[in-house]
Amino acid sequence: MNTKVLEEELNKVDICGEAPEAEPYRQYYYIKKCREIIEEKSRKLGRPLTASTVTFGCQMNARDSEKLAGILEQIGYVMTEDEHADFVIYNTCTVRENANQRVYGRLGALGSIKKKNPHMLIALCGCMMQEPEVVEKLKKSYRFVDLIFGTHNIYKFAELVAARLESDRMVIDIWKDTDKIVEDLPADRKYPFKSGVNIMFGCNNFCSYCIVPYVRGRERSRNPKDIIREIEQLVEDGVVEVMLLGQNVNSYGKNLDEPVTFAQLLREIEKIEGLERIRFMTSHPKDLSDELIEVMRDSSKVCRHMHLPLQSGSSRVLKVMNRKYTKEDYLSLVERMRTAIPDISLTTDIIVGFPGETEEDFQETLDVVRKVRYDSAFTFIYSKRTGTPAAAMDAQVPESVVKDRFDRLLAEVQEISKEMSSRLTGQTLPVLVEEKNDHDPHLMTGRLSNNLLVHFPGDESLIGKIMDVHLKECRGFYYMGEAAPKRGR
Ligand code: 5AD
Ligand code: SF4
Repeated sequence: MNTKVLEEELNKVDICGEAPEAEPYRQYYYIKKCREIIEEKSRKLGRPLTASTVTFGCQMNARDSEKLAGILEQIGYVMTEDEHADFVIYNTCTVRENANQRVYGRLGALGSIKKKNPHMLIALCGCMMQEPEVVEKLKKSYRFVDLIFGTHNIYKFAELVAARLESDRMVIDIWKDTDKIVEDLPADRKYPFKSGVNIMFGCNNFCSYCIVPYVRGRERSRNPKDIIREIEQLVEDGVVEVMLLGQNVNSYGKNLDEPVTFAQLLREIEKIEGLERIRFMTSHPKDLSDELIEVMRDSSKVCRHMHLPLQSGSSRVLKVMNRKYTKEDYLSLVERMRTAIPDISLTTDIIVGFPGETEEDFQETLDVVRKVRYDSAFTFIYSKRTGTPAAAMDAQVPESVVKDRFDRLLAEVQEISKEMSSRLTGQTLPVLVEEKNDHDPHLMTGRLSNNLLVHFPGDESLIGKIMDVHLKECRGFYYMGEAAPKRGR
């Protein structure tokens, strides 16, 4: 929702009365209430109050953080990247154990900062908070935390902040699940020209190693009309690229009152004038339809990139993982995609060391990697997540064996990735210019339709524009280029 429309809504709110029951109006009420309190605090301190969001984990969390930042700004905080802010919120991830460890490590340091700033408020939210043991540990050993909430009630952020501002106690609100989707709340986008857009929440797949279905709840699709309206507003605000987000976008719309397929949704989104690029993430191979491949083939806006998590190349392991496809199904799907869209870039996720994985199973994974030739792959060491079926399985693979397999897989993946990435050398292709290069201020960094980065001489006025760039040289996983005279899609 854009700021002007929100401001009109906020003007209608009377905070002297009771909070309305209906959403999002209830949250508008609390935004306005918090505004008064923050204004008062700021007046007393003689300076604006600052806030910072810190995101761990996936794109879904990144988008959630933009929503949190949107609320914080509306409440009256000035956003900063500095963790010495007056309000710091960690949006956590729990997909692998090391994600949890990182949060605890940083939280300890944040506690020391808080000792020096008594006005500071610390909030924690996201997937990790859905685990009861985590909340217990925080209550016991991290008493300085002010607010804890989970993944299902993030839309209530303003109300929760109000609760904390009006009391001196730690506020904890964790829900087990929800069937609710609240529309029309603000978001503060990191980039003015591109945005994530949630199309669905939760996951029903219960892959046996994965904690996501337990912490993100059951699958819920947003209404297509709400999605289109959001994207139209984003485009009005200058967005040219959207990333449609869901744990399994290929099963989008199955449970709506009037079912819609993901491919149909893409067709509708493609019609939005002014929108130039459409990406999506993540696809589950078991639900990827020929209809989707056709839409991608025929589309001038859907990007030439498919992230298609493999997890394992062994049909035996895939069965125990509850992935519901075999090695052969996966390879045939890749072939259908490559035949229809020859220039498509394929990326994947692979887990090494799933319980009971033998050297033979691992060789099957390497075989798929060699056959598919991924443009890039995220490789993960299996992490035992309490409560998942895999955590209770016998034959956890010894650490040294896993490490050795991981290194061999990584070497293979990287070599192929280098070769695949360089195949566009010499071509001139459209690039969305995203930012100034971190290392060289004379260079701009942009992204190709296939998601690879390109660095080329230019200036900041190009940011947010799609322009043709000649790809002169591939350096591993990115290109060095030169702006070409003509503008492309
Ligand atoms: N251990 C290791 N990797 C995991 N993933 C999900 N759960 C686990 C786990 N328990 C990986 C999968 C998924 C990606 C987001 O994280 O590969 O696709
Ligand atoms: Fe986890 Fe599988 Fe759902 Fe992905 S599809 S979030 S790996 S359960």
